[in-house]
Amino acid sequence: MTNLSVVGLQWGDEGKGKLVDFLAGRFVAVARFNGGSNAGHTVVIGAKRHTFHLVPSGALAGKELLIGAGVALDTEVLSQELSLLPPRARKRLTVDNRCSLVSPADKGLDVAIEEIRGGSSIGTTRRGIGPAYAMRALRLALRASDVVDEGGQDLGPMTDVYRRLGADPSGLRKWVEGARATLKGRLGDVGARVMDIGSSGGSVLFEASQGTLLDLLHGSYPYVTSSHTLVSYIPAGLGIPLSEAGEPLGVAKCYTTRVGGGPFPTEIGGKTAAAIREAGKEYGATTGRPRRIGWLDIVALRYAVMLNGAKKLALSKLDVLSGVKEFKVCTSYRHLGSESGNFQRAAAHLGEVEPVYESPLTLHGAEYASGLPRQAQRLVEYLEDALKVKVTLISHGEERSRTIEL
Ligand code: IMO
Ligand code: MG
Repeated sequence: MTNLSVVGLQWGDEGKGKLVDFLAGRFVAVARFNGGSNAGHTVVIGAKRHTFHLVPSGALAGKELLIGAGVALDTEVLSQELSLLPPRARKRLTVDNRCSLVSPADKGLDVAIEEIRGGSSIGTTRRGIGPAYAMRALRLALRASDVVDEGGQDLGPMTDVYRRLGADPSGLRKWVEGARATLKGRLGDVGARVMDIGSSGGSVLFEASQGTLLDLLHGSYPYVTSSHTLVSYIPAGLGIPLSEAGEPLGVAKCYTTRVGGGPFPTEIGGKTAAAIREAGKEYGATTGRPRRIGWLDIVALRYAVMLNGAKKLALSKLDVLSGVKEFKVCTSYRHLGSESGNFQRAAAHLGEVEPVYESPLTLHGAEYASGLPRQAQRLVEYLEDALKVKVTLISHGEERSRTIEL
């Protein structure tokens, strides 16, 4: 079997964690390659809810866990998360030597920069992700191997730069000691491990964090995250050749959410949005913020499918729309009198476009106990035609077993 890449096609929170857990049994390992503790991936087994920020969502499926070099690693969050796992699962984690670390000063800077931006703040998760990647680009960040190798860290330049930026560098030495304790015995070469698994006939499941529209280069800049969220980043983020990036499986909800600032053409408010938010538990898994709610946006989704080369789609949260009379699907944007279905062309004025909707669809009252109901089948056919993909998985509830393979 080839490697498989689970990637989000919207603004994050598409249900990637649930699907990774569901699919993990078929793979030797699950690997994260981007983002950091800004991710919040929820896995529900029976009545128990688990949220992962850094540990790959294959942890409860008993799989080998890999964190690649492309991840911005907050060792304090990692340590907390590991403490919640059974000891066996803890032993299965390998962190790449080259992962750059998120320092406490990065978190302080994240908050300070958001304050400076004022009314145009990004609405970050305040996890220090932007500053940590900036420090890496400045070649000032510490990498995982630096803190584990005794004497491998020269904190001088980093401390001076933080001080000049007005961040508090006083806790850095202590933080390095904590990071060392968390990482000792867990470091390795994740790219080489992925290749070894392939050589011995196994395969790896790649778990993206965030979503395509939050990609630093191709998303709704500047309202994006600071890493790359597309499947094309998998080889770079893990240190493997392009040929091993695997088959992409795009994940999309049957409506859209967004958390934080930025344009959102299909956003809705009022009672319907509130009902969807409650039914879908649409509150940030990392920050607890209520998520903004909107209808499914085919224009944006088509762009995301193209960027990832996704031929397969997993559609999630169908159960949430069972309680809604009818829903809409945006098929093009209107701007200054003309209509276009091209997301990229609309990107510069995304905040001003008016969504053009297809006549209402419905999943009202749909039940999933004995397979895919007719209304859902109709939605699947509609999306397969509109997006030129094959829908291979349906998620109709957060619990692991509420999944239908087509
Ligand atoms: P998962 O993996 C949804 C959003 C933040 C903010 C912007 C930048 O659970 O899908 P950052 O802290 O990354 O600098 O914030 O990106 N964001 C997410 N939104 N799901 C996520 O991850 C997100 N990670 C970051 O809300 O708008
Ligand atoms: Mg999430």
